[in-house]
Amino acid sequence: GELADEPRMFTEILEQPSSVERALRGRLDERFGTAHLGGLNLDPRELRAIRRVKILGCGSAYYVGQMGAGLIEELARIPADAEAASEFRYRNPIIEPDTLYVAVSQSGETIDTLLAVQEIRRKGGRVLGVVNVVGSAIARAVDGGIYLHAGPEIAVASTKALTNMYVAFSLLALQLGRVRDLSIADGKRLISGLQALPTQIEEILKSESHLEEVAARLAEAESMFFVGRVRGYPVAREGAQKLKEISYRHAEAYQTSELKHGPLALISESVPTVAIVPQDELTDRNVAALHEISARRGPLVVVTHPEVDLGELDALRVDVPKNEVELDPILLTIPLQLIAFHAAKALGHDVDKPRNLAKSVTVE
Ligand code: BG6
Repeated sequence: GELADEPRMFTEILEQPSSVERALRGRLDERFGTAHLGGLNLDPRELRAIRRVKILGCGSAYYVGQMGAGLIEELARIPADAEAASEFRYRNPIIEPDTLYVAVSQSGETIDTLLAVQEIRRKGGRVLGVVNVVGSAIARAVDGGIYLHAGPEIAVASTKALTNMYVAFSLLALQLGRVRDLSIADGKRLISGLQALPTQIEEILKSESHLEEVAARLAEAESMFFVGRVRGYPVAREGAQKLKEISYRHAEAYQTSELKHGPLALISESVPTVAIVPQDELTDRNVAALHEISARRGPLVVVTHPEVDLGELDALRVDVPKNEVELDPILLTIPLQLIAFHAAKALGHDVDKPRNLAKSVTVE
């Protein structure tokens, strides 16, 4: 077909409306406003007994893990956090019986993540896998889990698998929430949100030529910031990671709220900022921080919702369709994939095989 000559990363980005549909298929219970994840191997009583959730992954999988932890805290009100699997094992971690451990990996072969799983199981902990490759080492080592159904992902820079990881965490958070205090009304609200994702992703993909222009502008800069707050912060981390990996430009992710405590000193007309500004309870504070950047002549790209009024702010605007607040991060991430892709292409790099990186790192 006409996509045959395009880099794999590009075709994988375009596949997302259908790969998200696959991740949802057969897993939504509209009547009871919940999700059914057959492979968890945990009954409702065991799900209710979970006191803490710890998510482990590497690279982009770690950043999606951070998004997933936020979702679980928000929807199920269970304390949750994410940690780099590559660090976990080396600090003699305390393994608790009422903590649910979750290992997240596209390939299922990342050695750091696999070793973390083995360490937890050796110490008597229970681990779920959020994995794409069926029958992979991590899929075989865990007590249960969620397959991503993203299909084969070849490009080193992960896109459709990450999106499905977020979908998988949404389903897990929904199921954990519904056996606790999450209302059926909220459950149904989230199910409608999940069902709207494929069409909304389609809509974002249509704005590709605008994103190509944004990318061309960013590619001129040697160094840039990606900023966001709370739900938007892991989105910023993932955006910066993608840009670094394939365009080789320096990109640093920061919490928007922390800019004034240091990095504002670096802002100038040659250091752009990509800001994640969803329509939520933090919009006004986010916009106020952008004025601080603008006052220092820092060029701005704002990834936001059509409902957000940026006032007089001098910025390149990227609008994504609004979903439920809890699901917005998934859509805010999609334009960042295309921005990284087009920046790398504009700079003439091999998008699918970035220097120094492997698709999965299977030796320590
Ligand atoms: C890194 C890749 O080495 O491994 C990243 O460059 C990826 O793109 C990370 O996110 C984790 O891989 P996996 O297969 O465990 O999700």
